[in-house]
Amino acid sequence: MNRTLYGNLIFELSKKGRKGYSLPQDYDRTHTTAELPEALRRKEAARLPECDELTVVRHYTNLSHNNFGVNDGFYPLGSCTMKYNPVINEEIAGLKAFAGLHPLQPAETCQGALEVYYNLQESLAELAGLSEFTLNPCAGAHGELTGLMVIRAYHESRGDVRTKVLIPDSAHGTNPASAAVCGLEVVEVKSNANGTVDLEDLERLVQLEGPNIAAMMMTNPNTLGIFEPNVLEITEMVHKAGGLMYYDGANLNALLGECRPGDMGFDVMHINLHKTFSTPHGGGGPGSGPVGVRKGLEQFLPMPRVVQVPAEKEGEESFKVDWGTSVDGERGKEIAVGSFFGNFGVMLKAYAYILSLGREHVKEVGPLAVLNANYIKECLKDDYLLPIGGLCKHEVVFDGLVDKSTGVTTMDVAKRLLDYGYHAPTIYFPLLFHESLMIEPTENESKETLDSFIDVMHRIAQEAKTDPELVKTAPHDTPIGRVDDVLAAKQPITTYWKTLDK
Ligand SMILES: Cc1ncc(COP(=O)(O)O)c(C=O)c1O
Repeated sequence: MNRTLYGNLIFELSKKGRKGYSLPQDYDRTHTTAELPEALRRKEAARLPECDELTVVRHYTNLSHNNFGVNDGFYPLGSCTMKYNPVINEEIAGLKAFAGLHPLQPAETCQGALEVYYNLQESLAELAGLSEFTLNPCAGAHGELTGLMVIRAYHESRGDVRTKVLIPDSAHGTNPASAAVCGLEVVEVKSNANGTVDLEDLERLVQLEGPNIAAMMMTNPNTLGIFEPNVLEITEMVHKAGGLMYYDGANLNALLGECRPGDMGFDVMHINLHKTFSTPHGGGGPGSGPVGVRKGLEQFLPMPRVVQVPAEKEGEESFKVDWGTSVDGERGKEIAVGSFFGNFGVMLKAYAYILSLGREHVKEVGPLAVLNANYIKECLKDDYLLPIGGLCKHEVVFDGLVDKSTGVTTMDVAKRLLDYGYHAPTIYFPLLFHESLMIEPTENESKETLDSFIDVMHRIAQEAKTDPELVKTAPHDTPIGRVDDVLAAKQPITTYWKTLDK
């Protein structure tokens, strides 16, 4: 691949008047704009790049080679990671009969899609040990906000004004953010030396805030990949104070089929379908964050929901969309108008994944994810600092290298991994440690893949001792070297012409 030429921006490859297409000579250009209202028509031609076909194809093929995806190699990103994304699920989601649906199509004309929707609602409820799910929210954070609104509506319906949400200090940043967006006040609960909830601190806060506690949000296993052993005591304490328990289900893949949030005492939860149920979570989407509730809270879920219409004869059930009136009349419809039925493509993939595993094999997901993470932990703990020992769940968090004397940081290790053909793990999250390096192998990686990754991690630790500059200046073998992340985030330049016009 000629990176020097085709690696240029498409605008730099542009030559005035060059075309990658040809239209019939008598082609009437006016009819393409004729139907557009005058006010919406361009006054000047768009400054689009002008290139021949081969240049376009080579440029974009070149670009695609600069990317690193789960199909290129091991992708150990923790927490917000992509899980197993079977290609067949992509094909199912792309089937014309599904992809061509319109959200306002009459229910009689899309019974198949409604059946999938309904069955997924039911499957998630069974997997979570809860009563009912809405599939509307389009991300984990969107699910958190929806779930907290459900909790707020529940308290309001009882004439109970509660404004505080207890959140452990290890929580994902979206938890406090969602609480704040919902108009609730965050009260931080400390972690103990084991990385789990400090029961004494929780007891103190429950005494202090008592009737103000609307809910406690928890991720279990938490963002350190550690299962909360006192979860039953915690849910009991919060329930006694009249609060509800919210489960952030982003880490559900660690427990899938083994135990259920509903059985641990959680009242409301979201599931990140794009993490546990077979959708890549890259570049900000697409996602899906269904929200489930325990019995007695169903009426607070937003609408629409798909319901089964009882059949007169067995096997002739049909499905309809219940737009409902929710608790206070229009609330359900307002939320629904925003997102219709959520990201249906993601739901199709999730449903296909659940069906392909079935009741029997769904139980294998959690234990395999846990086994893989613990294997990596045990193999790397002599070179990488393990701040919390013991068994982890689906992901393991190190606090950088054991030997920090040469000044090689977690960032350097992550960059050097790229030279060896591995995507970097999650770095500098969770915030509890200075040099967090969070590795999540997922359930489906082979022992050979894990061994070769472990081998590279050992090699990097060795390089950090013998040739620290090599690691500090990595990556060396990628098309783009080390970028200034902060500048890129603070002053992103996303428009080529704007750069020229400056
Ligand atoms: C523990 C946890 N909670 C919540 C979220 C938020 O999910 P989303 O990115 O889909 O909004 C994530 C990941 O981003 C997460 O890892």
